[in-house]
Amino acid sequence: MRSVQIKPGIYWVGVNDRFTQFFEGLWPIGEEGVSYNSYLLVDEKNVLIDLAKSIKTDEFFEQIEQIIPVSKIDYVVINHMEPDHTGILTVLKKIAPHATILISEKGVKMLKAFYHIDENVKPVKDLEELRIGEKLLKFYYTPFVHWPETMMTYEVTHKVLFSCDGFGGYGALRGVLFDDECKDKDFYIKEMLRYYANIVATFSTPVLKAIEKLSSLPVQIIAPSHGLIWRENPGIVVDLYKKWAQYASSPAEKGVTLLYGSMYGNTERIMSSLLNGISKSGIAVDVFNVTQTHVSYILASLWKNRGVVIGAPTYEGSLFPPMADVLHMASVKHVQFKTAAIFGSYGWSGGASKRIREIIEPLKWQIVGVFDINGSPTNEDLQKIEEFGYDFARKIMEQP
Ligand SMILES: Cc1cc2nc3c(=O)[nH]c(=O)nc-3n(C[C@H](O)[C@H](O)[C@H](O)COP(=O)(O)O)c2cc1C
Ligand SMILES: [Fe+2]
Ligand SMILES: [Fe+2]
Repeated sequence: MRSVQIKPGIYWVGVNDRFTQFFEGLWPIGEEGVSYNSYLLVDEKNVLIDLAKSIKTDEFFEQIEQIIPVSKIDYVVINHMEPDHTGILTVLKKIAPHATILISEKGVKMLKAFYHIDENVKPVKDLEELRIGEKLLKFYYTPFVHWPETMMTYEVTHKVLFSCDGFGGYGALRGVLFDDECKDKDFYIKEMLRYYANIVATFSTPVLKAIEKLSSLPVQIIAPSHGLIWRENPGIVVDLYKKWAQYASSPAEKGVTLLYGSMYGNTERIMSSLLNGISKSGIAVDVFNVTQTHVSYILASLWKNRGVVIGAPTYEGSLFPPMADVLHMASVKHVQFKTAAIFGSYGWSGGASKRIREIIEPLKWQIVGVFDINGSPTNEDLQKIEEFGYDFARKIMEQP
């Protein structure tokens, strides 16, 4: 994708990544891809805001060279030190050694630690301004959206917010940069939720603080460093991030995430009856076989639904390991305030449901039903479980 002017003298000069299989070495993006959006502001001083991971270095510099020679860059704003936005910095420093790096005070030490750079580095203060000609930059510290040093940069004249990870999402750009041109916004919003649940969720309180801090700005364009640029209605992504951030401390949407694993089909049969009951209630339900689906996708569903059903067999005195992995990740990501039910099959002494309760104990989930079935469920068991599924879903639907 070639560089694109987003406002007079403001250009998107990013790159798409369709090579990386796992974002942060962990979250699958092989199918979806991701973009590293970088922005070039051309004025009396030329400014580059956020860079890219150190892939496609040639393409990255070609994007800039379509507009100005790279050697003409005066300032590089590093909103966030994570290498998906700074990997290219070492090469950039070689081509444009005189360029001054603008970074938050906390970022200075990290820049030295990660890249051993301390020359031509100028820390900027919270709310500091920098006039670069017609354009005026203002820096807003937004700590822990996503790292402690993170800030956002606002261009006052054209009202563009360069929000870095904030309001970002997975999904490589498909030749279209703006929300109003995109025919597949649902894809990007879905991938934004997955990104939120995977990357941002732990920092939900800082997200709310940042949104509050920026709330009085007359933002026309939100230009994050991953995903689409929002200009038709930037409020949409602010509202989404705000809504998701609130799920960290309150019950989420009235939907159910059903997680199951099964070795020989007994737990799967119980799951099936439970699912019948849940579905009869009319509530939205996402079903995941934890052995088959990467936890990245499961977290997105868990984050947005207030009901969770967990079904897994006993395995060597404890919980079926793929389910333990998923619940452990839910715990790492602080998935809290759920209404939950547990079920599973065991052969002799059991142990799965006990282990499930231990793992989720710190997460403040309200457990409203536990079904430990010895061996294969009877028709009576299945009948009872289907009724329970219906009641469980109704209970969630009737919550305030
Ligand atoms: C590898 C393996 C380990 C198991 N370990 C235990 C155990 O420690 N305690 C127990 O009660 N049942 C144990 N079981 C029995 C299963 O929990 C039982 O077969 C259950 O019905 C399996 O449910 P599924 O058909 O959904 O896989 C084990 C089964 C397998 C295959
Ligand atoms: Fe980040
Ligand atoms: Fe990022």
